Amino acid sequence: MDKMIIQGGNRLQGDVRISGSKNAALPIVVSSLLVDGPCTYHNVPNLKDIESILLLLRDLGATVEKQGDTVHIDATGLNQFEASYELVRKMRASILVLGPLIARLKKARVSLPGGCAIGARPVNLHLKALSQLGVTIDIVHGYIEASVDKLKGNDVFFDMPTVTGTENLIMASVLAEGETILRNAAREPEIIALADVLNQMGADIGGAGSPIITIQGVPRLKPVTASIIPDRIETGTYMIASILTHGDVNITHCEPAHVGSLIHKLRLTGADITINDKSIRIKGPECIESTDIKTLPYPGFPTDMQAQFMVLMTIAKGQSIITETIFENRFIHVSELKRLGADITISSGNVAIVRGVDHLSGAPVMASDLRASACLVLAGLVAEGETMINRVYHLDRGYESIEKKMNSLGAKIQRAM
Ligand code: EPZ
Repeated sequence: MDKMIIQGGNRLQGDVRISGSKNAALPIVVSSLLVDGPCTYHNVPNLKDIESILLLLRDLGATVEKQGDTVHIDATGLNQFEASYELVRKMRASILVLGPLIARLKKARVSLPGGCAIGARPVNLHLKALSQLGVTIDIVHGYIEASVDKLKGNDVFFDMPTVTGTENLIMASVLAEGETILRNAAREPEIIALADVLNQMGADIGGAGSPIITIQGVPRLKPVTASIIPDRIETGTYMIASILTHGDVNITHCEPAHVGSLIHKLRLTGADITINDKSIRIKGPECIESTDIKTLPYPGFPTDMQAQFMVLMTIAKGQSIITETIFENRFIHVSELKRLGADITISSGNVAIVRGVDHLSGAPVMASDLRASACLVLAGLVAEGETMINRVYHLDRGYESIEKKMNSLGAKIQRAM
């Protein structure tokens, strides 16, 4: 069923439970490749991207079993070092197997991930950093062919913070000889979560969450049982859903500390936000105030929340300037929002000017990527009448049971062929 039909105008209220983080679960399940033995992870979200990465781990020779939100992985039988184009093209994060395969098998053949809707998404920084650990890398027929006799720690500088690049290098260096320093490293909570799991396995990683991460290589790692942190982007998406619909939503099993920049900006729109230990209660104001955002690496405003925030600004009072600094083509949702009556002008490649309108009106629209799809769902919640979203398979990559969760809050969403 690849369409979603939304009747707009309902106020959302009640409790919604946040699932485990897609972007924490992906590197953490892949880190099992570093270990001879059974690893168990709890709170793993049921998502298409997780299915894809578990399929890849099976292809590499690991045994994988998923029961609800618990995953068991044993990479003792790891005997393949190739990640095929067929798998990598479906899910770019497959590039995360590169570091562990090199660390474990001293070689890897991983398809170069192509670009995607939001940008070229190169992996040059991953490869440059790996070569500084002594890895020989060639690009042959669209594949990264990597090999090394012995990984040696080194002092590595990233030209710009890269989330999966930092994760790949952490996983490549935990079994290397000597010390590795990663400078200008990404600081996302998912990096800290990965380092925490690896340290539980017996790695020696310091500084995760700061721009300088230090890894002392160790001879081997041991199996681990761990739980995945909450998804901060899913959290932010439901926060905006509550404000948009002048709702009163209590978001549970989340990590408020991971959405600090978002809370700051949403308070400026007039939202009433109460923070508790692992939950956030958020009430929408009668009148939504506009405010500007600029996406930046964590702890700045997350690029993965840019499209969702833009929806909020389309019905806010006044004008909002939205600047996207991370990806070169992350305004695809603008043309779809304009079909719903939004007043948005892209003033330069990465700056959008949003002028608030009284209301959006429902129409058929097209999803283009994961977060743009989420933005269209949010728009459908407030657009007058019916909004039909095509190609909703994008949504299932990163949002667990989104219509079930939204409908439990009072939305009217259904799937259709
Ligand atoms: C991660 O992607 C996330 N994905 C993305 O979430 C997120 O948008 C992104 O980080 C930024 O926060 C996962 O964690 C699986 P980057 P990643 O490397 O690691 C450039 C979602 O919706 N760059 O931090 O691929 C790159 O082009 C997804 O869940 C290079 O130039 O992003 C971009 O401009 C979308 N060369 C910037 O760095 C490289 O070798 C940041 O990219 C690597 C990156």
